[in-house]
Amino acid sequence: MSTAADHAVTVFGADATALVPVMEIMRAAFDPVYGEAWNAAQCAAVIGGPGIWLLVAELDGRPAGFALTRAVLDEAELLLIAVHPEARRHGVGATLLDAVLDGCRQRSVNRVFLEVRAHNPAIALYTAFNFSKVGERCNYYRGADGKLYDAHSYSLTLKNSEN
Ligand SMILES: CC(C)(COP(=O)(O)OP(=O)(O)OC[C@H]1O[C@@H](n2cnc3c(N)ncnc32)[C@H](O)[C@@H]1OP(=O)(O)O)[C@@H](O)C(=O)NCCC(=O)NCCS
Repeated sequence: MSTAADHAVTVFGADATALVPVMEIMRAAFDPVYGEAWNAAQCAAVIGGPGIWLLVAELDGRPAGFALTRAVLDEAELLLIAVHPEARRHGVGATLLDAVLDGCRQRSVNRVFLEVRAHNPAIALYTAFNFSKVGERCNYYRGADGKLYDAHSYSLTLKNSEN
């Protein structure tokens, strides 16, 4: 069995030219049953917008994950984070989230928010980074078959913020 230590994870800032690998990861990472994924037009409309930054992660030199975040003044929202199913549990998600939080600190963000579908395994990643649940939104996600799923809101206060 391979471990995270056997693999090289690198993260870098990207722009709209990364849309093709980002959409490949998006389609593979999100089960359409839950309606969480964005389409290419939604991504293209947001990437490059004010306060938005895109991070792409590579695992052993191949695109494996991405994170899209938006900062407004001293608050930020993690809009999306995803890792290709074939690249999971090698530390790509944690490395991306670490880089997101670094980017937040560089932008003098004090508090980071995110919405996640109730029961999404990603919650284990967020709680490992000390995010706390701060709210619930009923029927926030609409799945492929029209079924509705609740979202939970999480937030993290950045203690090492320099402002
Ligand atoms: C959530 C997600 C980004 C995690 O990516 P990943 O690269 O597998 O995460 P990591 O390997 O860095 O995991 C770090 C830690 O998070 C926790 N974790 C991650 N995925 C987990 C899972 N499916 N079940 C339980 N814990 C999990 C574990 O504590 C893990 O550490 P460990 O592997 O040493 O036990 C990935 O599963 C994914 O893309 N999911 C689909 C997209 C999605 O739902 N995104 C969130 C909403 S935007």
